Amino acid sequence: MSKKIFSGVQPTGNLHLGNYLGAIKNFVELSSGKDNQCIFCVVDLHAITVKQNPKELKKNIRETAATFIASGIDPNQSIIFNQSMVSAHAEAAWILSCVSKIGWLNRMTQFKEKAGKDKEKASIGLYSYPVLMAADILLYDATHVPVGDDQKQHLELCRDIAQKFNNDYNVTDFLQVPEPLIHKKFSRIMSLKDGKKKMSKSDPSDLSRINLTDQKDEIVNKIKKAKTDNSLMPENSKNLNKRPEVENLLGIYSSLKNQNLEESINEFQRKNFSEFKEKLSDVLVEKIDPISKEIKKLLDDVKYLDKILLEGSNKANEIASKKIKEIRKLVGF
Ligand code: TYM
Repeated sequence: MSKKIFSGVQPTGNLHLGNYLGAIKNFVELSSGKDNQCIFCVVDLHAITVKQNPKELKKNIRETAATFIASGIDPNQSIIFNQSMVSAHAEAAWILSCVSKIGWLNRMTQFKEKAGKDKEKASIGLYSYPVLMAADILLYDATHVPVGDDQKQHLELCRDIAQKFNNDYNVTDFLQVPEPLIHKKFSRIMSLKDGKKKMSKSDPSDLSRINLTDQKDEIVNKIKKAKTDNSLMPENSKNLNKRPEVENLLGIYSSLKNQNLEESINEFQRKNFSEFKEKLSDVLVEKIDPISKEIKKLLDDVKYLDKILLEGSNKANEIASKKIKEIRKLVGF
């Protein structure tokens, strides 16, 4: 069955291995499926839900687009664009926010994490951000949305919003209720310093993550310093969840090698960490170093990147403007 794929990544700098293994690697695989229609969005409207430096934001928009291309997404096959260039996203977000319930948004755990203790000081945009995310997806009638595990709740909300709109306006199946595509195993990559914390661009320690712009020496150094424990490599998967750092590193290795966890465990059974870390660094360097080099090369060609984003937004706009027209009509405008 052909799929309509939509997904987004925030241009907030420091794209990392979690973004790659949880999402972008999946984008690349899906975009090579002949019958799939893929749209990958640099979600700059989402980025400004927390304060951004305008110059940095501009650079990060290009860098995110460059990361998509450097990872293997072909801009001639897939649409790559930035959200703020297609005004239907903001308009649809407003309309959908009027069918979404405050109670639904109050349940969003990511808002609670991001807003921290002082919720009163968080922006309204940060709070209503999942509605904008729903607008992104629903404007394109996306059937499938590849994301990491941390976006699962937002996708469930998106499904609720679609159903509520269809119900309220009495239009069966008008908004397509999308399916999340979340890897069963490696959809949550953890910090290299703390196996209980998600790998994240906002972690103050750069040693906690592998950035997609890291070079060979940085990758090797970060893996050398990655937290492990005093035992040997595990014999089997029993009790592995009690060793979260080891489980995470084995997960990263398995995902990069496209093999299951058991195979990786068998490969390093009862060996020293140094031996495993060496092999892990090798596969990481093999995968990430070429991406990092390609990102740098692409960033030297700003004109090319801007052309891709402009062409992509023209194509996205064609689809989204038709859908928003229909939405406006249904609403009574
Ligand atoms: P963002 O920009 O935080 O992350 C982009 C993608 O990377 C995944 N990800 C991870 N996966 C595994 N392990 C990790 N440590 C990790 N960290 C991040 C995220 O799950 C995501 O798939 N709200 C979204 C962006 C968005 C979107 C959309 C996604 C806006 N509109 C529409 C899908 C469809 C976000 O902030 O992702």
